[in-house]
Amino acid sequence: MSALMLLLLGLLSLFVFFCLLCGRKRRDGEPPLITGWIPFFGKALEFGQDAHKFLEKHKKKYGDVFTVHLAGKYMTFIMDPLLYPSIIKHGRQLDFQEFAGKVAPITFGYPFVVPALQEQIHRSFKLLQGDNLSTLTESMMGNLMLVLRQDHMGERSGWRSGSMYDFCNSVMFEATFLTMYGRPAAGCRHSGMRALRDDFVRFDNMFPLLIAGIPVWLLGRTKAIRDKLIGYFLPHRMSCWSNTSEFIRMRSGLFEQYDALRDVDKAAHHFAILWASVGNTIPATFWAMYYLVSHPAALQRVRQEIHDVLRLDGVEFSSDTDLMLDREQLEKLVYLESAINESLRLSSASMNIRVAQEDFSLRLDAERSLGVRKGDFIALYPQSMHMDPDIYDQPQSFRVDRYIQDGRLKTDFYKDGRKLKYYLMPFGSGSSMCPGRYFAVNEIKQFLCLLLLYFDLQLEEDQSQATQDLGRAGLGVMLPAADVRFRYKLHMVGPLTVGPHTVGPLTV
Ligand code: HEM
Repeated sequence: MSALMLLLLGLLSLFVFFCLLCGRKRRDGEPPLITGWIPFFGKALEFGQDAHKFLEKHKKKYGDVFTVHLAGKYMTFIMDPLLYPSIIKHGRQLDFQEFAGKVAPITFGYPFVVPALQEQIHRSFKLLQGDNLSTLTESMMGNLMLVLRQDHMGERSGWRSGSMYDFCNSVMFEATFLTMYGRPAAGCRHSGMRALRDDFVRFDNMFPLLIAGIPVWLLGRTKAIRDKLIGYFLPHRMSCWSNTSEFIRMRSGLFEQYDALRDVDKAAHHFAILWASVGNTIPATFWAMYYLVSHPAALQRVRQEIHDVLRLDGVEFSSDTDLMLDREQLEKLVYLESAINESLRLSSASMNIRVAQEDFSLRLDAERSLGVRKGDFIALYPQSMHMDPDIYDQPQSFRVDRYIQDGRLKTDFYKDGRKLKYYLMPFGSGSSMCPGRYFAVNEIKQFLCLLLLYFDLQLEEDQSQATQDLGRAGLGVMLPAADVRFRYKLHMVGPLTVGPHTVGPLTV
């Protein structure tokens, strides 16, 4: 070994020794501390490989609350869902915006947001709910119908083969885009949508690395791809679009009031909303479709429910006419909602993070308090709750009626004999809860209604069970590790001939 090599090894050992010496020590009242031996990174690599497994392993050893050293940060995990309310209600001392406010600009390429603008941006989220939700839902229905009819309903007989994720992605991406940002000046579909979607997928693949703080210039062509995506939303382009949602119009107006924002910054904000509106919704749509198609009895139950709601409302369904399902009709589809909840339970893994604003003692319950240091992260990892056999019997299996009780949506779930306030958390919690959650569930419902009514669906033979790509653990809904092949055929129905559809074999 050369002298230089020896010197480097010596310096590295000294560095490790120094880090271990100066590393954080557990104080009285603080939870068990898990640091690992790798300086700075701590347990980040092990955590990144399979966060759920890592947390379950340490929960067995250390109990419900412990702190982990992860890439320079100290993150305290609260694993008992009965303790979630005490974290979620701590708005003042445990802040969400401090974390999101740093990460989002770096990821999407806009400048740090001044507090006044941040507050107004937050106010714009109301336009995804209330009366605006009805308008958004109505518009989404028309756009889903448009894309499905033009791209997938031309062939009137015979089976067509497709890749399920790709199918969901192409339909939901474009329909959501049209609903949020509007139609082009001429025609009803934007040209270049395929290229936009492909670039979006390339960016999305790098999303976990960007969120982890890897500089964009280290990620190959990611910066160029992101610039291209941002360029799509420059104000001079967007101003030509019509039927833009009130939500996006309000945000455009807002950005105009801030002289410090360049056109490219405004466009980057719009691009961030594109990610928020499809980044999780598309994989969530995939999993809901996948679980239904691979559980034919469940699919048939949901399909029957849709037919029942249409019949009760006097709607005559025919495959030759476009279907309109409004917000109220969607609300009646409880089996469908249960199926979506169940697939979100199985596929979502979003970590809820809060940053401690001061040193303080966090009360967990009547007996326990926790010493917390300023700057520490407090994290909830709801996937552990979603997969807890004490709460959900046989948590690995898909049960279409898991969220149904007496014909209504079930909200009673228990742990250790105590009713849980939070039992399903794909959309985050408290102050950072997803403002698009109602729209997301509505659009997934609409997509599935159209699919189940207009098509016969089957998995291709010999498809193995879909598995999750863990790369997105902690960040939202997981992507499938590989796409799934399926077949679909237009189901010809006249107004009075609503009949049984073909469903696939009970293979999965
Ligand atoms: C199944 C689909 C969706 C899932 C699972 C989901 C999940 C989430 C989660 C977990 C957060 C909070 C992030 C955190 O706490 O760190 C969030 C935030 C957000 N979501 Fe969603 N989301 C979905 C669909 C949508 C849709 C359709 C929209 C808009 C049309 C949307 C808009 C937003 C926005 C704007 C935020 C940021 C809120 C803030 O900064 O306070 N989401 N989403």
